[in-house]
Amino acid sequence: MKDKINVAVVGCGGFARGVHLPNMAGNKKYNLLAACDMIEEAAEEVKNKYCMGYATTEYQKVLSDPEVDLVVITTRHNLHAEQSVKAAQAKKHILCEKPMGMNYRECKKAAEAVRRNGVKYAIGYNRGLAPHIKKAGELLSNRKSPVIMYHRMANPVPADHWLLNEEIGGGRFIGEGCHIFDLLCAVIQSAPTLLYADGGIFTNPGVVKIPDTGSVIIGFEDGSVATLLLSSVGHPSIPKESTEIYCGDSAILIEDFQRMKIRGFSEEGDIVLNGVDKGHKIELDLLADAIIGDGEIPNGLEAALRAALLSFKSVESIRTHEVQKISKEECRI
Ligand SMILES: NC(=O)c1ccc[n+]([C@@H]2O[C@H](COP(=O)([O-])OP(=O)(O)OC[C@H]3O[C@@H](n4cnc5c(N)ncnc54)[C@H](O)[C@@H]3O)[C@@H](O)[C@H]2O)c1
Repeated sequence: MKDKINVAVVGCGGFARGVHLPNMAGNKKYNLLAACDMIEEAAEEVKNKYCMGYATTEYQKVLSDPEVDLVVITTRHNLHAEQSVKAAQAKKHILCEKPMGMNYRECKKAAEAVRRNGVKYAIGYNRGLAPHIKKAGELLSNRKSPVIMYHRMANPVPADHWLLNEEIGGGRFIGEGCHIFDLLCAVIQSAPTLLYADGGIFTNPGVVKIPDTGSVIIGFEDGSVATLLLSSVGHPSIPKESTEIYCGDSAILIEDFQRMKIRGFSEEGDIVLNGVDKGHKIELDLLADAIIGDGEIPNGLEAALRAALLSFKSVESIRTHEVQKISKEECRI
């Protein structure tokens, strides 16, 4: 493998333009080669801004291009699984933004295509790779007792936002909550065994048809317990995310991936980063290393499937008011 990865970005919308494109442009391991969007002007604009080789509205064109090594899928959620299957069949490595798919069947299909075709696959669960979250995982790695932790993701989302549309976005739990299920598993490092969720449609039940707000309690094999509070209502002035972790005589508090308080470990203190760091850059860097060096992807297939499964079961639990069991078998590809 060469030392520069040729990239085709598929879906030149807000997230690709705001995050992955500038981050890849600033990373020597990537060469931005092709911009693909169903809207011609969007692809052209991105191509021109980053001096890319070409713009296209045809996904098949980038898949047939032998120069393309990696397909970055930043389209809306209903397209992710199908586009991943096609990329894998074309023997392209894949960075697919979350979620992996809209339901368990779609996710399994994408995962199986990746396995069968022997390509690298990373899902955009960057938060588990955020510096403060990685640090928390390291501090807890030799723990002797269970962890109790809580993560809040709360910010108002308009009821007509596509994320809350069941067919296109999959709703808040499937479309965004999966991020946090991955983060909780990354810190706790034990298998989730069950969950219970309560919540509902707190924005506008006349418009939204899938739960957008609620709390999920997850039990883990080692006795640890994690809670996600996910809210689509609230006030934009409140920091969107916050994490609290307690274990034995120690505690870790993280505010919005920027401020971290560490207490009760041999290393104690406060760490404040210059800005919010949700792990987007490190995710790209680790992915590049895995492709170039033929190594493991840190947030690879089974982690992707596990977080997706927790998101589907959360919606199911809110709808049925029943505890959902999670088996290791379901998380395996
Ligand atoms: N990891 C994170 O922190 C994070 C944050 C925000 C968004 N995201 C993810 O990024 C992805 C994109 O979100 P967004 O807010 O940029 O959405 P968006 O609607 O702004 O962008 C989607 C783009 O895909 C294009 N598109 C639609 N169908 C297409 C097709 N068939 N072929 C090619 N292009 C097509 C659209 O024209 C649009 O330009 C989503 O998966 C979202 O969850 C991730």
